[in-house]
Amino acid sequence: MNLYKRFSQYLKPYLPRFIQAGLAMMAVALLTTATIWLIRTVVDQVLIAKNLNKLFFVAAIIPLIYLAKGIFSYIQNYLMNYISHSVIRDMRSELYSHLQNCSLDFFHQNSTGQLMSRLTHDTTTLQSSIAYVPVQVIRDGLTVLCLLFTILYLNWKFALITLFLLPIAMIPVAVLGSKMRKTGRLIQKRMADIFMLIQEGITGNCVTKVFSKEKNEIERFNKENQDYYASLMRWVRADVLGAPIMEFVGSFAAVFLLWVGGKDVINGAWSTGSFFSFLGASISAYKPIKEFTGVNARIQQGLAALERIFELLDQKPTIIEKKDCFNLPPFNQLIQYKNVNFSYETNGRAILKNIALDVRPGEIVAIVGPSGAGKTTLIQLLPRLFDPTQGSILIDGTDIKNVTFKSLRGQIGMVTQDTILFNETVRYNLAYGSNEDGNLGSINLAQLEEAASIANAHPFIQDLPQGYDTQIGEKGVRLSGGQRQRLAIARAILKNPPILILDEATSSLDSESEKLVQEALERLMKHRTVLVVAHRLSTIRKADRIIVLENGEIIEEGRHETLLEKNGLYKKLYETQYSS
Ligand SMILES: Nc1ncnc2c1ncn2[C@@H]1O[C@H](COP(=O)(O)OP(=O)(O)OP(=O)(O)O)[C@@H](O)[C@H]1O
Ligand SMILES: [Mg+2]
Repeated sequence: MNLYKRFSQYLKPYLPRFIQAGLAMMAVALLTTATIWLIRTVVDQVLIAKNLNKLFFVAAIIPLIYLAKGIFSYIQNYLMNYISHSVIRDMRSELYSHLQNCSLDFFHQNSTGQLMSRLTHDTTTLQSSIAYVPVQVIRDGLTVLCLLFTILYLNWKFALITLFLLPIAMIPVAVLGSKMRKTGRLIQKRMADIFMLIQEGITGNCVTKVFSKEKNEIERFNKENQDYYASLMRWVRADVLGAPIMEFVGSFAAVFLLWVGGKDVINGAWSTGSFFSFLGASISAYKPIKEFTGVNARIQQGLAALERIFELLDQKPTIIEKKDCFNLPPFNQLIQYKNVNFSYETNGRAILKNIALDVRPGEIVAIVGPSGAGKTTLIQLLPRLFDPTQGSILIDGTDIKNVTFKSLRGQIGMVTQDTILFNETVRYNLAYGSNEDGNLGSINLAQLEEAASIANAHPFIQDLPQGYDTQIGEKGVRLSGGQRQRLAIARAILKNPPILILDEATSSLDSESEKLVQEALERLMKHRTVLVVAHRLSTIRKADRIIVLENGEIIEEGRHETLLEKNGLYKKLYETQYSS
C-alpha cells in the first residue's frame, strides 16, 4: 500500500488532467451503452412497427453518437498518454539526478547496464501501466457496469444467470494473475541483465576481438536472451490463457440465452428488440471484461517496475555533506592524513592502514608502491570520493568531512589513471571543470588555447577536422591515448586548482608521446601542491618527498637518493620499474 501512496505523489501534479480523462472515459462508457439501447429502438419501434420517421431519426443520431464517442476517446487517450509520459519524464529526471548524487561506491556495486535498464526499460513498462490501467478500470469497468444495468433492466432473470456465470469465469483469471506477478518481476530483472551484457559487449568489444572471444560473448548473451525469452513466454502463456477460458465459459451463457430467450421471443413473452439489445449488451460486455482480465497483469508489471525504480531511489549516498557544513577557506598551510584506515564496503579488507601524511603548500609528494598497494585509494580520499573508515583528513586543521563538496573539490584538480572524457567537443571537455553553469560562455578561446598549449595539446587539436569543435567520441575513442591524457591535463590546467592529485597512467606511451605528456604534467604541477601516484621516474625525481606504500601501509618515506641508500622496497621497485 505504501508503494501506491508513494506513487500517488508523482500523479498529484496531473490530478486535474486525470479527472478530465476520467470524465471522458465515463462519456465513452455511456455512449457505448447508448448504442445498445438504440438496437432495441430500431428493432421494436422502427422495423417491427414499420415507422419510417423514426428510422430517419435513428439514422441521424447514430453518426452523432459515434462522433461524440470518437471525440471523447481521443481526449481520453491523449490525456492518459500525456499524464503517463509526464510522470515518467519526471521520474526519469529524478532517477538521473539521484544517480548523479550517488556515491562512487554505488557505481562499483552496480553495473552500468543494470542501472540503465531501470531508467529505460522499467520506466517504459511503468508508463504503459499508467496509460492503460485507468482506462481499463474506469472506462471498461464503467462500460461493464452500464451494460449489466442494461441487461438487468431488460430481463433480470437472464441477467442474474449471466451474472452467476461471470465469477466462475473469473476464477482462472485470478489464479493466473498471481503467477504473472511473480514472472513479471523476473522479466524486469532479466531485462536488466541483458542491458548489462549489451553494455559490456559494446565497451569491451576491443578486448573481445583481441582475445577472439566473440563466440563466447555471443553465447553468454544468447543464454541471457533465452532466459529472458523463457520467462517472457511463461508470462505470455498465463496472459493469453485468460481470454479463451472466459470465451469458453461465455459460450455456455450465449447458448443458454439463445435457447431459452429465443423461445420467450417466439412465445411473445419477450420483445424482439429487447432480446437483441440483451444479446448485444452481453456481447459488448465481453470485450471490456476480457480486457479487464489483463488489468491485473498490467498492474503487476507496473508494480514490479515501480518497486525497482523506488529501490534505486532509496539508495542513500554514503558520502554526504553535513547539515552544518561550511566553505573551506583557500588552502594555505597543511594537508594532513591522520591515522587513516580504509576498507571498501564490498569486501571489508583493510586497504589502507594507519596512514599518517603531511603535505605542505607547494610540495610535490610522490606515492609509489606495488600494484594494488592502495595508492589510487589513498589519493581518492582527499576529494572525498570515499571517506576513511577510521581517522580523518584535515586541510588547514579542518576535517574535510565538515566542509561543502564544492569548496573542497573546487580546490582540487584531478588527473586520473584512466583518462575520462565525454562524448562531446574538445572545447566542452576542456572547459568541463572551469565553468559554473555548464555553458562555455565564461571561457574564451584564448584561455582554452593557452591551457591546451601548456598541455602540449594545441597542435594536435588544431589538426582535428573541426579543431576545438571536434567531437571526440565516447570516452574520447577518436583520440590516441597520449592525446587523451594531454586533454585531461589541459582540463586540469584550465581549472587551475591549488591542490592537484594525479594518478599517472600505468600504460606507457611511445617515447615521443611520452615526452609530450611528461612535459605537460611537469607544467601542470608547477606552483601547486601535488599528491602524485608516480609511475614515471621523471616525476619521482621531481618530487620533494616519496612515500612508499605496501599493502596499505607507508613503509618508507624520503627523497629519491636517501631511499635508494636504504636498500629497501623502494630500491627494488626502482630497479625493476624505473631504471629501464
Ligand atoms: N571499488 C573497490 N571495491 C573493492 N576493492 C577495491 C576497489 N577498488 C580497489 N580495490 C582494492 O583495493 C586495493 C588497492 O587498490 P588501488 O586501486 O588503490 O591500488 P593501486 O595501488 O592504485 O594499484 P595500481 O598501481 O595498480 O593502480 C586493491 O587490492 C584492489 O583490489
Ligand atoms: Mg592505481
